[in-house]
Amino acid sequence: MIIANWKCNGNKTMIKDWFISYLNKIKNNGIDVGTVGIAPPSIFFNEVFNQIKKNNLDILTCTQDIAGSSRKCTGAISSEMLQKIHAFSFCIVGHSERRTLYNEDNNIIQDKIFECLKSDINPILCVGETEEENKLGKTEEIIQDQLSILNNLDITDKTTIAYEPIWAIGTGKTPVPTKVNQIHKFIKDVVQSNSINQQKPKVLYGGSVTEKNAESFFRSEHVDGALIGGASLSGAIFAEIVNIKNEIKI
Ligand code: PGA
Repeated sequence: MIIANWKCNGNKTMIKDWFISYLNKIKNNGIDVGTVGIAPPSIFFNEVFNQIKKNNLDILTCTQDIAGSSRKCTGAISSEMLQKIHAFSFCIVGHSERRTLYNEDNNIIQDKIFECLKSDINPILCVGETEEENKLGKTEEIIQDQLSILNNLDITDKTTIAYEPIWAIGTGKTPVPTKVNQIHKFIKDVVQSNSINQQKPKVLYGGSVTEKNAESFFRSEHVDGALIGGASLSGAIFAEIVNIKNEIKI
């Protein structure tokens, strides 16, 4: 499963070019990799959706955020609206940029997870530690707290976690793949033992993933894919990463 998180980037020309270069590079329509998704800024949902349809691509549209249960929320987009425009499959929830810039805490994020689950939109819950927490050896403690959002929830088999160490996002720094693998196993164990239905989630790695380092993550047993920011803004590079995942059959 590979998801492009375009964040606050894109315009109509970029989107047209993105799909041309993606099509030039992608092998087999990315068919074996499982889910491939793009989370564009909401204002470009239509452009992206039309390109996917026109080119007959196996790419899902995702959202970068969703409104919580309150509809008194200027600027937000609700689950009902998302369902009415297109069938949105996945929604990124609790990205560290939203935790920091919009003060989203566990309560707010949990409310959004509920909104996703009640609307058949599969949440991708982002978790991860700061550099300081990492240095203090607090990574697992922090992640366990962030995952407590899912405690006693009946999550779906498509509920996904993205492990995104904050210090790795957009910095070019990454944890070593063995460490990532260890944290992913930890996440799977915690969610499995705390959810009502003992569901083991898929866990994506996010944070400075590129076509150069993707293979090292994808070869790890517990890494089920990637959430990609900067490198996903190029259709060619994103296709290369999808091709790499396709070629590794684990
Ligand atoms: P990055 O962003 O790939 O640019 O580090 C990842 C993310 O924030 O989801």
